[in-house]
Amino acid sequence: MGKTETSSRSSDEFGAPRHVAIIMDGNGRWAASRGLPRGEGHRRGVEALRRTVRAAGDLGISYLTIFSFSSENWSRPAKEVSDLMVLLRRFIRNDLAELHASNVLVRVIGEREGLDPEIAKLLQEAEDLTRHNTGLTLVIAFNYGGRQEIARAARGVAEEVAAGRLAPQAVTPELLYRFFDAPDIPDPDLLIRTSGEQRLSNFLLWQAAYSELVFLPVHWPDFDRAALEKAIDEFRRRERRFGGLVAKTGS
Ligand code: FPP
Repeated sequence: MGKTETSSRSSDEFGAPRHVAIIMDGNGRWAASRGLPRGEGHRRGVEALRRTVRAAGDLGISYLTIFSFSSENWSRPAKEVSDLMVLLRRFIRNDLAELHASNVLVRVIGEREGLDPEIAKLLQEAEDLTRHNTGLTLVIAFNYGGRQEIARAARGVAEEVAAGRLAPQAVTPELLYRFFDAPDIPDPDLLIRTSGEQRLSNFLLWQAAYSELVFLPVHWPDFDRAALEKAIDEFRRRERRFGGLVAKTGS
């Protein structure tokens, strides 16, 4: 990825991004503004996720990465963490067959070690069942943190160096990236965050180096195809130079 991907095609002939990543923010505020419990905001967030997966497929997006639970989300109240775990389990149990029927390939990034074994098994099942699908790739970032992913990769490299299989001089950005959770997936072209907050919150820190960032004022439960199209329109208006001087739009 990184260097190699920037020179490969990053959007289609209509200028649509090939890889869209989303920070699905604002579930709590959506619920609070309606006098509802936060869990209801997350539940409606899953519905928005279903709409978005369908819309992404329709719009010809190849990869959709969603931030479903961060390494730091464990610090939320126990009830909220357990609501989110229930939703994830339900999402995989109830939606996996439909995702599979729609030719969606599911991948999971994030730390698997120490996860509840039942959740770890479900995530693995989703990946195994859809492994050969050829439609949209849905990347679920679960128990994910960008810094943690970089540290895991660094540990992998350090182990190779310590074992004498790798010379320290061979460590380049491209080599380090091979130790990331999904090194075969291209960098996101477009990163969307809903709810008006403008930060990355430890999401895809390495991969988003040259992503176009679009911040939408809508809370995640209200996100729909029109909001996705709006973000894509904004993306199309951006000039991507990847640190060079010449715009590289879809080349
Ligand atoms: C941010 O809203 C959202 C999350 C921390 C979790 C996102 C999860 C979902 C959309 C549903 C579960 C996902 C799957 C894959 C089943 P927030 O709670 O931080 O909102 P706030 O900033 O308004 O409080």
